[in-house]
Amino acid sequence: MPDEAGTAATPELDAAAGHLQRAHSILVTTGAGMSRESGIPTFRGAREGLWSRFDPTQLATRDAFREDPARVWGWYNYRRGMVRAAQPHAGHRSLVRLESLVPELSIVTQNVDGLHQRAGSADVVELHGNIDRFKCFARDHPVDLDIPVVETTGLLDPPSCPECGSPVRPDVVWYGEPLPAESIGRAGDLARGCDVMLVVGTSGIVYPAAGLPALARSAGATVIEINTTTSELTARAVDLFLQGTAGTVLPALVRKVEGEARGGGPDTPSGQGSDGA
Ligand code: OAD
Repeated sequence: MPDEAGTAATPELDAAAGHLQRAHSILVTTGAGMSRESGIPTFRGAREGLWSRFDPTQLATRDAFREDPARVWGWYNYRRGMVRAAQPHAGHRSLVRLESLVPELSIVTQNVDGLHQRAGSADVVELHGNIDRFKCFARDHPVDLDIPVVETTGLLDPPSCPECGSPVRPDVVWYGEPLPAESIGRAGDLARGCDVMLVVGTSGIVYPAAGLPALARSAGATVIEINTTTSELTARAVDLFLQGTAGTVLPALVRKVEGEARGGGPDTPSGQGSDGA
């Protein structure tokens, strides 16, 4: 069993901090495990994962929305409620801190919750959209509405598009849909151009996001993974594996990078005492 609260072994943490400290360009890619300690469930956790409790074919496809818009919109209303109640944690804040310590840092996320932006990260590429943004189901154009979360976990009719009257849908990527071309294009460029890729909290199952670590590595980057347990990526695309949660390992890692940046070496007291916030 992975230790949900555990931290990575020190030699790997030291090695990872050294790579980050020497890097010019860092790419951080994040999945649902990044948001777990903010209270947002992952997709594939055995007991609490969303896809172990709900059927994605009934909730996250165009056909599902066409057949039963109230079921799909009700489910996204429920998830938007969770996202709005969530706050970024120490791991999100550590990435903001890391950005200030290195020349270039970008984040490519599969998450639709906006937590990196709320924490203050400057350059975030959203591969799977954003749950609090909306578009027209019929014509795909953006719908700029502030749609409140309603207190219900059941069925809920979607609002109508003010331009054409078609139902409004969340601006997220559903199964069978292509990723936004600009986002996946930029993610590929960042993967090919980075010196170090940090891969945080993803099972590495869903493509094209799951292909980014191998792309970065084949272009010469060092790939460092942070996860509570090994993923599909660990054996084939990862150089250093740091076991533990995003909310514990990232702050510890960034403290070490800070210690090295101050010239004190990874274990000096000057690097201790902040959670990276
Ligand atoms: P998954 O739910 O598949 O995987 C979550 C990963 O996070 C697992 O590898 C866990 O071991 C790890 N994990 C859990 N808690 C963690 C923590 N506190 N710290 C670090 N790691 C932790 O989520 P994703 O890989 O993000 O797509 O899923 C990819 C895509 O599948 C999602 O974006 C979504 C889903 O279907 C769409 O909706 C298009």
